[in-house]
Amino acid sequence: MGSAILWWSRLSVRLVSVCLLCASVGKQCQIQNEMADCSHLKLTQIPSDLPNNITGLDISHNQLRQLGPANLTKYSQLVYLNAGYNSISKLQPELCKNVPLLQILKLEHNELYKIPDGVFASCTNLTELNLGYNRIDTKNDPFKTLENLNILDLSHNLLKSANLGLQQQLKNLRVLILDSNEITELKKEDFSFLSNTSLNSLDLSSNPLKEFHVGCLHAIGNLFGLVLNDVELGENRTKKLCTELSNTAIQNLSLSRVKLSYVGKSTFQGLQGTNLTVLNLSQNSLSVIEDDSFQWLSSLQYLNLKHNNFHISSRLFYGLSSLKHLNLINSLTGKIEDFSFHWLYHLEYLIMDNNNFPGITANTFTGLNNLKYLSLCNCNTNLQRITNKTFSSLGNSSLQVLNLTKTRISTIESGAFSSLGHLKILDLGLNEISQELTGREFKGLNNIQDIYLSYNKNLALQSESFIFVPSLRKLMLRKVGCSNLALSPSPFHPLQNLTVLDISNNNIANIKEDLFDGLHKLDILDLQHNNLARLWKHANPGGPVLFLKDLPNLRILNLKSNGLDEIPVQVFKGLFQLKNLDLGSNNLNMLPATLFDDQTSLISLNLQKNLITSVEEKVFGPAFKSLRILEMDSNPFDCTCESIAWFADWLNVTQAHIPGLQSQYICNTPPKYHGSLVLHFDSSACKDSAPFKLLFVITTAIVMLLIFIVLSIHFEGWRIAFYWNILVNRVLGFKELDRQQEEFDYDAYVIHARQDKKWVSKNFISLEKHNHFQIRFCLEERDFEAGVSEFEATINSIKMSRKIIFVVTEHLLQDPWCKNFKVYHALQQAIEQSRDSIILIFLQDIQDYKLYHALHLRRGMFRSCCILNWPAQKERVSAFHQQLVMALKSNSKVN
Ligand SMILES: *[C@@H]1O[C@H](CO)[C@@H](O)[C@H](O)[C@H]1NC(C)=O
Ligand SMILES: *[C@@H]1O[C@H](CO)[C@@H](O)[C@H](O)[C@H]1NC(C)=O
Ligand SMILES: *[C@@H]1O[C@H](CO)[C@@H](O)[C@H](O)[C@H]1NC(C)=O
Ligand SMILES: *[C@@H]1O[C@H](CO)[C@@H](O)[C@H](O)[C@H]1NC(C)=O
Ligand SMILES: *[C@@H]1O[C@H](CO)[C@@H](O)[C@H](O)[C@H]1NC(C)=O
Ligand SMILES: *[C@@H]1O[C@H](CO)[C@@H](O)[C@H](O)[C@H]1NC(C)=O
Ligand SMILES: *[C@@H]1O[C@H](CO)[C@@H](O)[C@H](O)[C@H]1NC(C)=O
Ligand SMILES: *[C@@H]1O[C@H](CO)[C@@H](O)[C@H](O)[C@H]1NC(C)=O
Ligand SMILES: *[C@@H]1O[C@H](CO)[C@@H](O)[C@H](O)[C@H]1NC(C)=O
Repeated sequence: MGSAILWWSRLSVRLVSVCLLCASVGKQCQIQNEMADCSHLKLTQIPSDLPNNITGLDISHNQLRQLGPANLTKYSQLVYLNAGYNSISKLQPELCKNVPLLQILKLEHNELYKIPDGVFASCTNLTELNLGYNRIDTKNDPFKTLENLNILDLSHNLLKSANLGLQQQLKNLRVLILDSNEITELKKEDFSFLSNTSLNSLDLSSNPLKEFHVGCLHAIGNLFGLVLNDVELGENRTKKLCTELSNTAIQNLSLSRVKLSYVGKSTFQGLQGTNLTVLNLSQNSLSVIEDDSFQWLSSLQYLNLKHNNFHISSRLFYGLSSLKHLNLINSLTGKIEDFSFHWLYHLEYLIMDNNNFPGITANTFTGLNNLKYLSLCNCNTNLQRITNKTFSSLGNSSLQVLNLTKTRISTIESGAFSSLGHLKILDLGLNEISQELTGREFKGLNNIQDIYLSYNKNLALQSESFIFVPSLRKLMLRKVGCSNLALSPSPFHPLQNLTVLDISNNNIANIKEDLFDGLHKLDILDLQHNNLARLWKHANPGGPVLFLKDLPNLRILNLKSNGLDEIPVQVFKGLFQLKNLDLGSNNLNMLPATLFDDQTSLISLNLQKNLITSVEEKVFGPAFKSLRILEMDSNPFDCTCESIAWFADWLNVTQAHIPGLQSQYICNTPPKYHGSLVLHFDSSACKDSAPFKLLFVITTAIVMLLIFIVLSIHFEGWRIAFYWNILVNRVLGFKELDRQQEEFDYDAYVIHARQDKKWVSKNFISLEKHNHFQIRFCLEERDFEAGVSEFEATINSIKMSRKIIFVVTEHLLQDPWCKNFKVYHALQQAIEQSRDSIILIFLQDIQDYKLYHALHLRRGMFRSCCILNWPAQKERVSAFHQQLVMALKSNSKVN
């Protein structure tokens, strides 16, 4: 039992180690452009099989323990070596002996403590050395040979002192990072090793600094930048610091999170003689700044006061005469006194986002004559109703950008921005504006280029809405509830320079064909999330609405989520510049052939989440030509040869990026392929069957044709014979017998049995008397010329009549004279003249076979309008007369 367990455990250990082996065999250094990336490989040694001409080596995140010149012999071209995140505790002297070109050496996150003499002796080309997150002991001037070093990072090293050496060194150092150490004081001589150095940045953040000894910062050759974030300074030590900085070259001072809650008149006095240009006082819970506190900072250009909580008094900014950039994000409390900003006559950028103050008055911004950019985003103040007074204090400025997003605006009065004639960008997005835009709201914005109105409550547009801003280039109207755009003229007509128009998410269901007419510069059109499906339907009254017809420069068109289930074939015609087309999330199934014929330079096409079953060349060929991104996933593809073979072939060769091709392009039909990937569709089978298919089609066609002919002859032989006769007569030149209407003396010759004479006289003579119809019948008894044989008279009369009426009764069928001679001549006449000129009137119900047997006529030989039945009911007689007149007047030419 025990040995079995042992055996099992041994086996599993072996299995595990085999697996680990596999894993590490699979991974190896990636080499690209002479740079070898060997990070995260659990290496304990530097690989010896890399190309020896590599210039960069990243061996970070491994398990190296020591590093010496011998390890680098092979890679003498190295310029960059990253050995951070290892367990290196020992460096050997002359580290750079074999890598004289090394410029960047990163050794952060190791276990370095002692740095033996001469480790960096030959690292003369080194410009950047990162030793952060170690426990470096800085005795013995370890860096004294690094004459070209620019950046030295010794952060997180438990250093107790900033003193890195006794003798003057590092004359080219620009950045010294000493943050997160244990430095409590800066002594007078601490920085004397930098007495010949011009530091752009000295970072002492997150040190428990308590004391700045007199002259400590003056020891540095030039100190341009000092970062003391997260050092507990408070007001007293801040003041002491500023005194120590007086007459230094300091330009950039960062005092963020230094617990400076109060600034007095003299706090910054020490900075008076400096050229300080950048001051960061953010996140200090500053609640009191005394008047004139910044009077000493006449060179200051950037002042960051964000995330504090102070009141702007009228003299707060006194003396900041060079200030260009003021950040007041989330920093104010109470009201802003009038004329507070007028000291800042060079201010260009004023950012006041996320504040809560009672109101903007007619003098809040007075004096900011150089202001270019004002942001009041997310301010809770009196902006609900913007009047022509709100920004009147900026009338003398040349403000170019005004950002008023999320400021709870509900109404814009006319002329609200009329004092901002230089404004280029106006952002009114994410507000609660609810009004009809009459156009006067934007009056005076003579140089405006962009207006953002997206995400407002309800903007009703009119034809004049943008009449005063013809210079507009970008108009954003996303989700503003402007569902009615069926306006004439279009509100966008004045905007001939428009390049971007966003009217998405508005539930627009009705627009006119000319909505975008004249927007010849339009580049981007966003129409997604509307309800445009009906406009493109075949059955739309008046036909599909082709609203994209006049946009020759359109590059990006978004029609996602519009419920589209039909696309008219002409709709994208002329859009030659189209590069991105999004038709995703619609209900499209069959797209018409040639739809994309003008879109041969399309780069990105989105048709995902539609109902597309087939992807055929005749539709998609042009669109796929230069495509780089295709998104057509989540469609119910029909994986048959006809529907998908061309697409499968294209997928196999295309260079285009197709996200989800391996998972989201799935066959729906036929059942055999349901659930399998389109990518796996084997189109080779389709090609083999092609000749057989053609043969099959031809054979089927021939057989069907034969069957048709046989059936036709069987059932319709007599009709064929009839028309054949007509045709032969035409071809053989009986054409001259075609005559004009006027050439006939009678409208109709009436053939009837003697017994039916009474009915004929009664009905036909009464019709003739009807002036309105102007009909003349040829009745044997009445109209035959005297002295001419009945035989001859019949032939002549038939010739002179436009139509021939048979009054069909049992008597007629038995009348031999009619049966033989008259019917024969009538038919002959009809055939010769190519005329469908016979009208049958049935006084009785006569079977078709009897008719054929007796007169060689069938009902089917005649047009239905030429077959009339004498009605049994009296009331219908006039309708019968009407029918008869229609039949007589009908064109009798056989076509
Ligand atoms: C460096 O070389 C020494 C001696 O050849 C060797 O023991 C050590 O593992 C090597 N270190 C690395 C990181 O390659
Ligand atoms: C570096 O060496 C590799 C092979 O060792 C060679 O293919 C490559 O061309 C060399 N690169 C340069 C810049 O010499
Ligand atoms: C630094 O590298 C350059 C080549 O990039 C070389 O010419 C120069 O001699 C090197 N400097 C030192 C001090 O080694
Ligand atoms: C700051 O200095 C003043 C006088 O120099 C002193 O009264 C005050 O207690 C000091 N504040 C702190 C927090 O040390
Ligand atoms: C401030 O700048 C001026 C002009 O650039 C220069 O003359 C002066 O020396 C600078 N002051 C200090 C303290 O660096
Ligand atoms: C501001 O609007 C009011 C009416 O609302 C008008 O009387 C006044 O003239 C307008 N002021 C300017 C400068 O347009
Ligand atoms: C306005 O500010 C908001 C919030 O900071 C920002 O998202 C938006 O892009 C700004 N608008 C412009 C036109 O820069
Ligand atoms: C439209 O743009 C052109 C060229 O940039 C410019 O000359 C013209 O003044 C602009 N039209 C309007 C109404 O601003
Ligand atoms: C894809 O193309 C390769 C060669 O380009 C060919 O061997 C392979 O059969 C093709 N696959 C399909 C499914 O057409």
